[in-house]
Amino acid sequence: MASRGVALSLAALWLLPQLASLHGAAAESLVPAIFVFGDSTVDVGNNNYLANCSVLCKADHARYGIDYSDSAPTGRFSNGHNLADQLAQLLGFSSGSPPAFLSLPDERRIPQMSSTGINFASGGSGLLVRTGLNVCGEVVPMAEQVVNFTSLVRLWGSQDPKASADLISRSLVFISVGSNDLFEYCSLAPDDPARNDTLFLQALIDSYTGYVKGLYEAGARKFSVVSPSLVGCCPSQRTAANKFNDIDGFGCFGRANNLSSQLYPMVDSMLQGLSAQLPGMNYSLGDSIGMAKWVFSHANATNFTVLDAACCGREDYAQGVCNSTATLCTNRGNHMFWDRFHPTEAASGVTAGQLFATNGSFVHPISVQQLVAPPPRVRRGARARRTA
Ligand SMILES: *[C@@H]1O[C@H](CO)[C@@H](O)[C@H](O)[C@H]1NC(C)=O
Ligand SMILES: *[C@@H]1O[C@H](CO)[C@@H](O)[C@H](O)[C@H]1NC(C)=O
Ligand SMILES: *[C@@H]1O[C@H](CO)[C@@H](O)[C@H](O)[C@H]1NC(C)=O
Ligand SMILES: *[C@@H]1O[C@H](CO)[C@@H](O)[C@H](O)[C@H]1NC(C)=O
Ligand SMILES: *[C@@H]1O[C@H](CO)[C@@H](O)[C@H](O)[C@H]1NC(C)=O
Ligand SMILES: *[C@@H]1O[C@H](CO)[C@@H](O)[C@H](O)[C@H]1NC(C)=O
Ligand SMILES: *[C@@H]1O[C@H](CO)[C@@H](O)[C@H](O)[C@H]1NC(C)=O
Ligand SMILES: *[C@@H]1O[C@H](CO)[C@@H](O)[C@H](O)[C@H]1NC(C)=O
Ligand SMILES: *[C@@H]1O[C@H](CO)[C@@H](O)[C@H](O)[C@H]1NC(C)=O
Repeated sequence: MASRGVALSLAALWLLPQLASLHGAAAESLVPAIFVFGDSTVDVGNNNYLANCSVLCKADHARYGIDYSDSAPTGRFSNGHNLADQLAQLLGFSSGSPPAFLSLPDERRIPQMSSTGINFASGGSGLLVRTGLNVCGEVVPMAEQVVNFTSLVRLWGSQDPKASADLISRSLVFISVGSNDLFEYCSLAPDDPARNDTLFLQALIDSYTGYVKGLYEAGARKFSVVSPSLVGCCPSQRTAANKFNDIDGFGCFGRANNLSSQLYPMVDSMLQGLSAQLPGMNYSLGDSIGMAKWVFSHANATNFTVLDAACCGREDYAQGVCNSTATLCTNRGNHMFWDRFHPTEAASGVTAGQLFATNGSFVHPISVQQLVAPPPRVRRGARARRTA
């Protein structure tokens, strides 16, 4: 009983900055719009519109969305809101992520771009253009997501160059991608001739660099980037760890965690390099490796007590599809993982809070809150008021 009390009060401390800032942002959003890119960690329904995308890569059925309003499956790979929703909420967008690009009829796209933004993310996709195609049948690769965004910006720019350039430069670009590239690469046999970690990681960075440059050239200036977490710790990869007999200190798939741990500093130097080279570019990089390690070693300070098994489909640990007949855990708030691959709403909420208003441990060089803060004008304003 006592230890439970401690756990709850620590969890409350952990949430304090998040709640404080939520309160502050209630009146209006901190950026005019958000543009979201990446994979299933942030997809809000794009895959529902892909005719050839398999059911394995769609979250359009129960029990997805069980904690969403009306328990509706929306295409979010979560029991409720996902990371894009929760970051958007912290930025003052009460309904969460902007809508899925593919859900918008042609004539709604530019108006949507200029109101809350658009979400281009597609579950199963990765940095490499072929990632997801074998598993899902059809996904929207990052390369295409960026093209869809830049084409729309160009179209809007041809109608209203000033308004579009101004809005895009003040908006937030949020990117969460790379895990699926790692999953697919790690599923290759250890002696597969296609395996070369150095070449693989460099190919990811080369692609990533191209996407960030493309978004910058379209006018984006503020980038919030989340690198893949300890991907070897999701339930599906714990199964792979046993299969390949490659288990690390966390009880996770060693090879997968090793690669994601190598990728993080590479993404960091990529962004440092780009921001030095591209005038006016600012970024906030979330260290999801550091966050995951912290949660794994401080489970008591968060509410998470089940770190290894999926909430939906846990009985069938190896195959465990999350569908309407899958076993469901009793407490979704204490599970880190919702299904074999994805965090619960509670777990992505902790990540969103850390990205937004961290104490500085898991975001570099600044938090999203700092990234979106208006340039300091306080002193001039104060003086003007005094003379007036
Ligand atoms: C978490 O709580 C349990 C039960 O009280 C305790 O045995 C364990 O040492 C605690 N772990 C940490 C990291 O504080
Ligand atoms: C979907 O699959 C069908 C049948 O294989 C094919 O004809 C069609 O071109 C595919 N559509 C897309 C968008 O890939
Ligand atoms: C998105 O971009 C791709 C690549 O250029 C293109 O094939 C596709 O038609 C675009 N999608 C939409 C809905 O415009
Ligand atoms: C990976 O590729 C690089 C560049 O071609 C090469 O120098 C290196 O020896 C390769 N590593 C392995 C383990 O094959
Ligand atoms: C990854 O594994 C290699 C070889 O097993 C090791 O040298 C390296 O230190 C590991 N890197 C990380 C970040 O764990
Ligand atoms: C954004 O980057 C510029 C350099 O490109 C730098 O002068 C400025 O301080 C940065 N802004 C923030 C909020 O970090
Ligand atoms: C749910 O998935 C399991 C496989 O994990 C399958 O046997 C079952 O038929 C599926 N249920 C539905 C309603 O599709
Ligand atoms: C932890 O549990 C308490 C009580 O159930 C709840 O109020 C709180 O929101 C939870 N915190 C997180 C991070 O889920
Ligand atoms: C930030 O928070 C984490 C987790 O609560 C903690 O481990 C770390 O020491 C804190 N860092 C600072 C600078 O307060």
